[in-house]
Amino acid sequence: MSKKGFIFDLDGVIVDTAKYHYLAWQKIAEKLGIEFTPHHNEKLKGVSRVRSLEIILELGKISATDQEKQLWLTQKNDDYLSYLTDIDSSEILPGVMPILSHLETLKQPIALGSASKNARPILEKTGIIELFDAIVDGNDVSQAKPDPEVFLVAARKLNLAPEDCIVFEDSEAGIQAANVAGMISVGIGDAKVLHEAAFNFPDFTHMDTAFIDGLLKKVKA
Ligand code: BG6
Ligand code: MG
Repeated sequence: MSKKGFIFDLDGVIVDTAKYHYLAWQKIAEKLGIEFTPHHNEKLKGVSRVRSLEIILELGKISATDQEKQLWLTQKNDDYLSYLTDIDSSEILPGVMPILSHLETLKQPIALGSASKNARPILEKTGIIELFDAIVDGNDVSQAKPDPEVFLVAARKLNLAPEDCIVFEDSEAGIQAANVAGMISVGIGDAKVLHEAAFNFPDFTHMDTAFIDGLLKKVKA
């Protein structure tokens, strides 16, 4: 069986942490008097912490000093981390484990491709870090999604060509990054938001192992 690289985003794909990012950003936005809705939040998904703050400030047409920005970034991350103190495997989204186990059984390479600088402790606390053959997170890259850097580095670490990689993503920026990288993009979430993805699933409970087997049988175009 051919080897493919299965690259997973973290927040909102493997673990249910996207909601905590939203809550933490909402507090900062509220403090700055900026209306920040779930619709606005879609633009923050997948992008780096620094870029997320810039988007919020642009939304409120607020200019700030570097010192202020640094303060808000720290406050946001401290607040975000307070939600993660007691997380465990129950934070893993439904349907994820059967897919990861199937890939493990098939001995297919698995990688993480996340913008988060908090990725490793989350994988450790949820008990799944050992499943990953490569981990690329916000500490390893300089370009935020939709730049393809995070996925290209993951492919390189797996010793696979980009066209042999499949990316699972819940963000618009992440789907765009996967497409620019020349990988197969699989949207996890609202198909209207993730309309640029090659495949869409509302969540992993809607994906069966036959879908994975089908991807493995795909020959290069
Ligand atoms: C992404 C999230 O995975 O990581 C974004 O979708 C988040 O919402 C980004 O801003 C950076 O995460 P962190 O943990 O480094 O602030
Ligand atoms: Mg995500």
